[in-house]
Amino acid sequence: MGNFMFHGVDVTDLAREYGTPLYVMSEDEIVRRVREVRRCFDERYERCSAFFASKSFLTKDMLRILMREGMGLDVVSEGELFLAREMGFPPEKIAFHGNSKTEREIASGLDYGVGKFVCDSQGEIALIDEMARERGALASVLIRVTPGVDAHTHKYISTGEAGSKFGLPPEAAKDAVSFCGTLRNVSLSGFHFHVGSQLMDNSSHLEALDVLLPLIKELDAERFETKILDMGGGFGVRYTEKDSPQGISGFIGGMVDRVEDFCRSNGIARPSLVVEPGRWIVSDAGITLYTVGSVKRLAGGGTYVGVDGGYPDNPRPALYGAEYEAVLANKAGLPPAETVSVAGKCCESGDILIHSIALPEARRGDVLAVMCTGAYNHSMSNNYNKNPVPAVVMIKDGAPRLSVRRQTYEEMFSGNI
Ligand SMILES: Cc1ncc(COP(=O)(O)O)c(C=O)c1O
Repeated sequence: MGNFMFHGVDVTDLAREYGTPLYVMSEDEIVRRVREVRRCFDERYERCSAFFASKSFLTKDMLRILMREGMGLDVVSEGELFLAREMGFPPEKIAFHGNSKTEREIASGLDYGVGKFVCDSQGEIALIDEMARERGALASVLIRVTPGVDAHTHKYISTGEAGSKFGLPPEAAKDAVSFCGTLRNVSLSGFHFHVGSQLMDNSSHLEALDVLLPLIKELDAERFETKILDMGGGFGVRYTEKDSPQGISGFIGGMVDRVEDFCRSNGIARPSLVVEPGRWIVSDAGITLYTVGSVKRLAGGGTYVGVDGGYPDNPRPALYGAEYEAVLANKAGLPPAETVSVAGKCCESGDILIHSIALPEARRGDVLAVMCTGAYNHSMSNNYNKNPVPAVVMIKDGAPRLSVRRQTYEEMFSGNI
């Protein structure tokens, strides 16, 4: 009866040594995926570069990997930029996003000299211009365009539909281009779009390109050359058997082909292209370990397997019905005995990590490993019910090491006066 192994490591040993809940990440898998994106994009086409969406997973070790591998970074807050800065991440390889950047955030981006700001409104562009002028700087900006396409994903992770809080519709984007032409301290390099996250194929991206490319052509005729087109992230992964994502090479390659064909047949220069994968790089590289606590069999049928984590380390199921697969790591060789719900420990009925999963008979003390939690779990962790943020263990060449230690209660309350 074998235990569940993750990248060569018996995870029950990790649970014993580091405690649970515990995020376990494979450095080898992250590196493999970073290289795969670079191979099918940066290295396959000229003037193409991938930026990692740090919102999906950001730690010092993650930044070390990205710097070693030469991938760029997309940040959306002063906090994300803070860590990048602490680690000496090359500023020119940072894109600063965000639909509601504060003045402080813009200041820290300008002071660090980030490569570009992705702007969400004309007011923001005006503010960046003013703040760049105060510093005697020239800020390179992209305008985020809302292409008005349906991303075929949960509405909370759909970002490119008409009426979205993100970006400017094409007509307003055109006005913003003219506006940029009147400013001295911003230099408009091009456009950005991001249609949504966890997309199974590139159809929404292609639809978005069908909106953006004619806009680029029209502006080209009016003597505005688009130098950069950032096509966002959103490349989906397999959380459960319901998901069958298109391979990354075909997904991204199809987008590049669409741009190249359009530019060639319309006689315009092909802009440099950017993609911003987050989930695709880290999701499958991570699992979360929990210890089973109470197992409650209801008189009317149904079983709750309670664990020592939940909403604080993974709010995604409660936020937008995200689904996961899991195994009882210390009973990995046993056949399923019953279908259960995995309940998180928070005082919210919505804190159910998995609504229905077939597992061997669960007992207090068993170790549950939830799969594919590398993206948007650690980064979305919170202290609800005053649960500490779990530690992160990183595995490289079959050897685990502590990458982020568990938050202590002293740290949790350190700001209290
Ligand atoms: C602007 C932008 N770029 C990239 C991403 C990364 O998306 P994903 O993790 O699905 O690749 C996001 C995610 O929300 C985003 O908002």
